[in-house]
Amino acid sequence: MEKADVIIVGSGISALQLATQLQGTMKVLMITKGRFRDSNTNRAQGGIAAALHPNDHIHLHTEDTLQASVQFADRDIVQDVVSEGKQLMEQLLQQGFPFDTNTKGQLHFGMEGAHQRSRILHSNGDQTGKAFVSYLLQQLRSNVTIRENEMVFEVIQNELGECIGVKSKNKQQRTNVYIAPYVVLATGGCSAIYNPTSNYEGAVGDGLYVAWRAGARLVNCEFIQFHPTILNVKNFTSFLISEAVRGEGGVLTLKDCIPLMETLHPMKDLAPRHIVAEAIFNAGEVYLDINNIQNFKTRFPSITAACEERGISIELGKIPVQPGAHFLMGGVETDSFGRTNIKGLLAIGELAYTGLHGSNRLASNSLLEGLVMGKRAAEVIQQGTECSKQLTPSQGWDRIQPFVPLCLPTPKQIKDNMMKYVGVKRSEYSLTKMLQWLESFSIDFSTTNLGHYSFKDIETIYMLFSAGVVTKSALLRKESRGAHIRSDYPDESTDWLYRKIIFEGNQVKVGLRKDEFVVS
Ligand code: SIN
Repeated sequence: MEKADVIIVGSGISALQLATQLQGTMKVLMITKGRFRDSNTNRAQGGIAAALHPNDHIHLHTEDTLQASVQFADRDIVQDVVSEGKQLMEQLLQQGFPFDTNTKGQLHFGMEGAHQRSRILHSNGDQTGKAFVSYLLQQLRSNVTIRENEMVFEVIQNELGECIGVKSKNKQQRTNVYIAPYVVLATGGCSAIYNPTSNYEGAVGDGLYVAWRAGARLVNCEFIQFHPTILNVKNFTSFLISEAVRGEGGVLTLKDCIPLMETLHPMKDLAPRHIVAEAIFNAGEVYLDINNIQNFKTRFPSITAACEERGISIELGKIPVQPGAHFLMGGVETDSFGRTNIKGLLAIGELAYTGLHGSNRLASNSLLEGLVMGKRAAEVIQQGTECSKQLTPSQGWDRIQPFVPLCLPTPKQIKDNMMKYVGVKRSEYSLTKMLQWLESFSIDFSTTNLGHYSFKDIETIYMLFSAGVVTKSALLRKESRGAHIRSDYPDESTDWLYRKIIFEGNQVKVGLRKDEFVVS
């Protein structure tokens, strides 16, 4: 049993930002299930949005975020993140963070969907996420210990139900126990339960399960954002074609070169993501015409390399694209400082549901969220009031439960079925079919002792759990809103506006502000 002051689970931007902000006197343990750079942050191409241009303002960034969210985001948290994020970006600029500049040495502000101003900063072209990981890694001090290839599978609680540590498993199947008054989950979203996806393959919702099992609440997980442009080449791993390509002039076209978005939305190729993703889904074979973009190869080096590896020549000026799962807008419910309903347990980054993204996230707001929420979680921890004081595990915490053999599907089956039945467009029929399939594995998520299973099987169990939460939530929300598109309920419904779908213990509830009622 190892002791620390803070345990951080994950290694993306919010986890790293938190680790850098904690005092050097605190013993911090970062646990990540892959290698340190295996994260969605490390893959982030698009950049980071901030109202830094003289013709921009935090009010405009706030309005764009609310508009893209289909008025479903929480205005207060949007204002907090947009304004605090701007200050953090100004600090990064002063500290010399290597944001891309134009030939005159001025910041290059890129454009992306649903933004009314060019406000996206990039680093090294389409490798902004990598630049953040490298930069923040350099700031880590010796008080931070990193454990790679260890998967957290359980939160340890005391008699009061407060969180006081975690159990993890490494690839050699050894279980480790860590005790700390604060545990921060920053494990990212769950879009890798789909194929295609822009996410790294481990993003299957570990934190959703671990937090829920401890008693935290999961909210609005039906809202999965499908990125419109994932490279469409059979038999290769998925690869994101950044929205920044459309921001620089890329145009979506049908097979016969007819522009797809021309008549579908006033913002055309830069319409909100769910609108573009649905248009591509409906159209079938779609290409991204990049003939208008000068210096494509230098502006987008990793996209160029990925296309060429897959036999798509950039010179032809036409990249085949399809929608794929990209971002979870719902997640573990927290307040605007990352606190869950369980003392000592925080959740930040994509895993958390703060209300920032509503039903559809504005492009390039997530790295900004990571910076702000990592800093805010550090403030909570440094205040030292919200922690668990009684660090003795509750009775029976290490009792060995009986082993139940499980019959699990392959990850590929889960991914393919999620895309087919719970993808860009869903219906009662498709969702019910998915649910029946998931239930055929008869896993009791609230009692199964994950410690018995292998690393790989635990990951499949996480996939099944996340798939179940997304599917059940999607079945309950009987309207189309933002990224949740139901073919049988094609319109937004005022009855559903601001309603949350909540998973808490074995209950599923629908809530409107303080009023919540159990539906199953
Ligand atoms: C992109 O590069 O298109 C993705 C950016 C984001 O999702 O914020």
